[in-house]
Amino acid sequence: MVPPAPPQPKAAADFFPHRDLLGVAGLTEAQVNYLLDKAEIYAAQNRRVVKRTNLLEGRTLVNLFFEASTRTRTSFELAAKRLGADVINMSAEGSSIKKGETLIDTAMTLNAMHPDVLVVRHQDSGAVALLSKKVDCAVINAGDGSHEHPTQALLDALTIRRRKGKIAGLHVAICGDIVHSRVARSNIQLLHIMGAHVRVVAPPTLLPAAAANLGVEVHHDMRRGLRDVDIVMMLRLQSERMQGSFVPSVREYFHFYGLDYEKLGYAKPDAMVMHPGPMNRGVEIDTEIADDISRSAIAEQVEMGVAVRMAVLDALSARLPNFAPMNAQ
Ligand code: NCD
Repeated sequence: MVPPAPPQPKAAADFFPHRDLLGVAGLTEAQVNYLLDKAEIYAAQNRRVVKRTNLLEGRTLVNLFFEASTRTRTSFELAAKRLGADVINMSAEGSSIKKGETLIDTAMTLNAMHPDVLVVRHQDSGAVALLSKKVDCAVINAGDGSHEHPTQALLDALTIRRRKGKIAGLHVAICGDIVHSRVARSNIQLLHIMGAHVRVVAPPTLLPAAAANLGVEVHHDMRRGLRDVDIVMMLRLQSERMQGSFVPSVREYFHFYGLDYEKLGYAKPDAMVMHPGPMNRGVEIDTEIADDISRSAIAEQVEMGVAVRMAVLDALSARLPNFAPMNAQ
């Protein structure tokens, strides 16, 4: 009798069967673990003297940013360059967008130049998904309005997993401006996929009307909301998305919702503090806590950002247009 054929190793495209990364919604726990495991390898590689490999040699990534960014844009640029790709940076300032060109016209123009990956940040929720339908290349959402910011949630998950050894079963409090935050939305979904318990802590004015539908515990009081949590994730007050006044004053906001050592004392003694940046010191977070390396993982979040974006580019590379591995026969 002929023995059954041994199981074939799965191709990368089977593990991560997506052309784009538009959000964390729709990812499975196995796909998230696949990305985080890859990112661990890149995190180690990023601490070596020579950080460059040639996985994306000859490929072009375009960073298309309609909103300001420091760490996300640089992080994608570094990630792509460390994989050997060429990178073009475009921002709304200094492009034809300022002359009135629409999002779709910009996308079509870029598409005609055959980029392999477009990384897009836009002020409108849904804009990146719309754009992805008009182009042939892979599209990564680098933040759309208050909707999603998938690579931020992935880098946060990686930071948590490295510091705490796991994600499942942890209690995470996400605090501050939830209503305007794509970071909160992506994190809530991803943490749920990974089996963590999530609470949000915010004044009623900074919570979405349907906060209870997010499947989280809702608190308005920091002391109660932080009780016994493993992770305290602080968010920036997104004044650029606020029309009118959402908080009485910055001083009063810090008094009730800013993270200081007294409020942090309600969390577990080894609770870790996170913030996606950019931080408003003295508004949502006490400056000493932000710099306290025994509590704050903020610098590690930035470091993991590059590793996670390399992992995402690596995972998407299996489906890039006309992909032929360098060593294919
Ligand atoms: C966040 C963003 O742009 O959504 N920043 C980031 O990407 N690190 C959070 C923020 O702007 O407050």
